[in-house]
Amino acid sequence: MRAAAHVQLYAAGVQRGTGFDLHGRVACITGAAAGIGEASARMLAAAGASVVLGDIDVAGAQRVADAIVREGGDALATSVDVRRRADLDAFVAAAIERHGQLDIMCNIAGVGSYGALRDVTEAEFDRAIGTNVKGTLFGCQAALAAMIPHGRGSIVNVSATAIYIPAAGVGVYAATKAAVAMLTQTLAVEAGAHGIRVNALAPGFTVTNFVGGHLRDADGHRDEAEFTTYLERMRTMSPLGILGEADDQAYQVLYLASDASRFVTGTILRANGGQSIDW
Ligand SMILES: NC(=O)c1ccc[n+]([C@@H]2O[C@H](COP(=O)([O-])OP(=O)(O)OC[C@H]3O[C@@H](n4cnc5c(N)ncnc54)[C@H](O)[C@@H]3O)[C@@H](O)[C@H]2O)c1
Repeated sequence: MRAAAHVQLYAAGVQRGTGFDLHGRVACITGAAAGIGEASARMLAAAGASVVLGDIDVAGAQRVADAIVREGGDALATSVDVRRRADLDAFVAAAIERHGQLDIMCNIAGVGSYGALRDVTEAEFDRAIGTNVKGTLFGCQAALAAMIPHGRGSIVNVSATAIYIPAAGVGVYAATKAAVAMLTQTLAVEAGAHGIRVNALAPGFTVTNFVGGHLRDADGHRDEAEFTTYLERMRTMSPLGILGEADDQAYQVLYLASDASRFVTGTILRANGGQSIDW
């Protein structure tokens, strides 16, 4: 495992006034207690942004915020359930109350959904749609309301490589992430006139708590040998022969959040090790 990217960024020194500099910017990040959301929060804070972290796991979000503050950054942790519009409105309101503005919204919280489509229950469908699709839409709506009066902003959503490679057993998940991609592209068209860019990541296999969810039993346990075999199979899906890490996605978030991507909107950015290669 290489050194955490945020440490590398501190060491390299993000130059003020350059494309990746986020000093003076305010970012809200959902799903910030773990995985890609945590790495993104730390990355944006390392680049100078004040970050507001939202997660259903508020203790986890607080742990990440504390680490950012220890590293010299500015962070606030809040409890957010992205399935609830009111939570996302309050989340953005907390950023405005503390900083007076919102420049960057990262809708990263998401859940997996496993099983053949013929067996999917209404409850499971609602669970996946609620977090992945409604959560993303509500986050975008709350952010747009705050950004439009200022005529600028960057929204980063999270789709998945699963939308490019239909695979048995992940149909509901892939459908929710295809919806995120289309929401992103449509919002890019609608929000562009307000100076707001809307993009998404489509991560490939990235080692976080999320991966191998289908290998866990009802109590959350999994067979470690089976998990190791699964990781090796995922590794071979990349022509590079590597697995993704949360920082690999966080670098994409930094790019899309910053002025380095000022001419980029409506893009679905694929950091997936070449797992899906397309025009
Ligand atoms: N890891 C991968 O290989 C991969 C690949 C493609 C897409 N993604 C997407 O990336 C995003 C982040 O995934 P990750 O790998 O970091 O997973 P993760 O499980 O490590 O982190 C997800 C975070 O979201 C939070 N969360 C879940 N439901 C929530 C809710 N209702 N409200 C608020 N927070 C909630 C969790 O508490 C957790 O902190 C997800 O949208 C996921 O679908 C991940």
